[in-house]
Amino acid sequence: MTTTVPKSEAPAAIRVHGIEKSFKDVQVLRGVDLKITPGSIFALLGSNGAGKTTLVRILSTLLPADGGTASVDDYDVATQPADVRESISLTGQFAAVDEMLTGRENLVLVAKLRHLKNPDAIADDLLARFTLAGAGARKAATYSGGMRRRLDIAMSLIGNPPIIFLDEPTTGLDPQGRIEVWQAIKQLVDGGTTVLLTTQYLDEAEQLAERIAILHQGRIIVDGSLTELKQLLPPAKVEYVEKQPTLEDVFLTLVGDHDADDSACGSAGTDK
Ligand SMILES: Nc1ncnc2c1ncn2[C@@H]1O[C@H](COP(=O)(O)OP(=O)(O)O)[C@@H](O)[C@H]1O
Ligand SMILES: [Mg+2]
Repeated sequence: MTTTVPKSEAPAAIRVHGIEKSFKDVQVLRGVDLKITPGSIFALLGSNGAGKTTLVRILSTLLPADGGTASVDDYDVATQPADVRESISLTGQFAAVDEMLTGRENLVLVAKLRHLKNPDAIADDLLARFTLAGAGARKAATYSGGMRRRLDIAMSLIGNPPIIFLDEPTTGLDPQGRIEVWQAIKQLVDGGTTVLLTTQYLDEAEQLAERIAILHQGRIIVDGSLTELKQLLPPAKVEYVEKQPTLEDVFLTLVGDHDADDSACGSAGTDK
């Protein structure tokens, strides 16, 4: 016997219906709709000022919406904000890392603030997961941008929130730092976490996300898998083009991708 779940009741980690938000007379969100599958990476793509952070702030209960409804982990953001906060963590563009502490001390501090039982074990586990074990005893002030952002993501995982918001996690990083952070983000979903990622970078969405939505002029103008989005364009003409390395390829070849990536995570392509 098969049971089918009606589409409207299919599980969703995040549901957004008609969310609106204005600042004074500027209408930033004009009715945003989204549904995010549990355990997936969802990229919200939009140019600077599109309203990505505004939406993330509404979903993380930091800002009330003017209209519409949203639920996170099945809790309503307007009426059950405390439950929503228990289910999420938010990592912004500006890392919450304390530079005067070591990487390890930052993690232990957060674990203690959350009243968890084994702060030391939690810190060591996360340092290892984010290839920071060797740097754990160093002050965060000495870290590269990529390391700092990875530490920040590791800190946001303490307490195992099922849903993580990453608001422009790689803005301002150099190419190598971006790739390090991408690897850290890919690992999050292996643990079953749902990730809502905002980005201005198309290649970042392409690299990481199973679904991509584009926020433009206050609305979601497209929402689908990378394959679906590519089908929106007319079929590509087949032409002979000599493949030139990208500037990023050149940079990484010269600088060397020294960061030992020991996780045999395989190449589970996002582009299925
Ligand atoms: N607290 C605020 N007061 C007034 N305007 C704001 C406020 N927060 C954001 N805005 C405006 O809303 C628009 C969207 O901002 P934001 O959500 O930060 O965009 P994004 O994160 O996509 O770059 C921008 O025009 C911004 O200036
Ligand atoms: Mg923003």
